[in-house]
Amino acid sequence: MENILSPSLLAADFTKVGQQLEQIEKGGAQYIHLDVMDGIFVPNISFGIPVIQSIRKNSNLVFDVHLMIVEPERYVEAFRNAGADIINFHVEATEDPDGTLDKIKSMGAKTGITIKPDTPVSRIVSYLEKVDMVLIMTVNPGFGGQPLIPYTLEKVRELKKIVDAKGLKTDIEVDGGVRFDNVEEVLGAGANIIVAGSAVFHGDIIENTQRFLSVLNP
Ligand code: DX5
Ligand code: ZN
Repeated sequence: MENILSPSLLAADFTKVGQQLEQIEKGGAQYIHLDVMDGIFVPNISFGIPVIQSIRKNSNLVFDVHLMIVEPERYVEAFRNAGADIINFHVEATEDPDGTLDKIKSMGAKTGITIKPDTPVSRIVSYLEKVDMVLIMTVNPGFGGQPLIPYTLEKVRELKKIVDAKGLKTDIEVDGGVRFDNVEEVLGAGANIIVAGSAVFHGDIIENTQRFLSVLNP
């Protein structure tokens, strides 16, 4: 199975978003990771529906939306209509993960369930049969540019074992602090979708994208 790079727009220069999306595409990226923050679930506010709607018109990338918002079930339809292909939400942010997953599915998007560094894998095991993707946060959500928290990779290993034992094909995405010097370790732990923000957008974007992809799929 091909490994996937999902560059995080949070690290882009927002005066040049269109151009920078073209650059990651030129570098070979297929996904774009879109971090939505509400200032309540996480101590930061990023961007939301109008921004996603607007870039949707100019991009054929797969929109991998990471909702860091409380009660994500309230906004599934709006994000899907804005152009989300995959909708990831935090299990910690809702009292109704099952209902949220059903809503995402009924809107025709791919489902993803996400856990913060201190949330155990056991919290999401019962949803595995229902999700396309599990996103394991390797930093505390809210900000780009933080260092990866090493113990989170134990959780990736644990999840990979469970997924394999169940005979599932669930995607395992890792988000936060992934750089050229640790991406091989992250892949080795069992992740197959790699989010990278600052490591892609700071510097030569085309070159960084190509370099990541050559490590992801040698
Ligand atoms: C953090 C976000 C991440 C972040 C990744 O809350 O979910 O997607 O932007 O950025 P880097 O790769 O710089 O850690
Ligand atoms: Zn993210």
